[in-house]
Amino acid sequence: MLRAVVLVSGGGTNLQAIIDAVAAGQITNTEIAAVISNNKGVKSLGRAEKAGIPAYCISPKDFESREQFNEMFLAKIDEIRPDLIVLAGFLVKIPEAMVRKYSDRIINIHPSLIPSFCGVGYYGLKVHEKALERGVKVTGATVHFVNEGMDEGPIIAQKAVAVLDDDTPEVLQRRVMEQAEWNLLPQAIDDIANGRIKVEGGKVIRS
Ligand code: GRF
Repeated sequence: MLRAVVLVSGGGTNLQAIIDAVAAGQITNTEIAAVISNNKGVKSLGRAEKAGIPAYCISPKDFESREQFNEMFLAKIDEIRPDLIVLAGFLVKIPEAMVRKYSDRIINIHPSLIPSFCGVGYYGLKVHEKALERGVKVTGATVHFVNEGMDEGPIIAQKAVAVLDDDTPEVLQRRVMEQAEWNLLPQAIDDIANGRIKVEGGKVIRS
């Protein structure tokens, strides 16, 4: 049974997709052991509590320094003993010590087709604003393993989504979430939980 911890920062629609997929049997051999948010009072914490999943808030704002936060954050993760750490709209940089310790066991959902519109400063609505500014006709989402870089880890899966002429960033974000993110993340968790994915030479191989 794969023990997953889901890290969130805001609305938690990707968390909800995971919760619903476990309940519907689309994700098997997996338990969501805990949810951790870096922000208090966000909807994602309410979603976890409603699903009976232990929820914690660990915010950098509550610590004297980022180093202290990083230490406490890693200690909490270790206490949960996850096999997989899922970043679902999580907006805090993962401490390098955590990336090393949980190498190839941290995944992230990014709302573009990496390597487009990713890296430092590309998160949330800004990703879609930049895509619309560039006039792309196709965008999408990517689920990937997390390494020391920003959105640079091995790509697990991607899904393309059409961009319409009258799209606003908000409309495009919603379409990418509905048509790509909410499918890719649960599918990746199920693939990992059932041994269908491995990383070889920095690339994801499906077995
Ligand atoms: C959204 O911008 C989504 O594209 C990205 O994180 C943000 C919040 O997602 N993955 P969620 O509703 O908190 O899952």
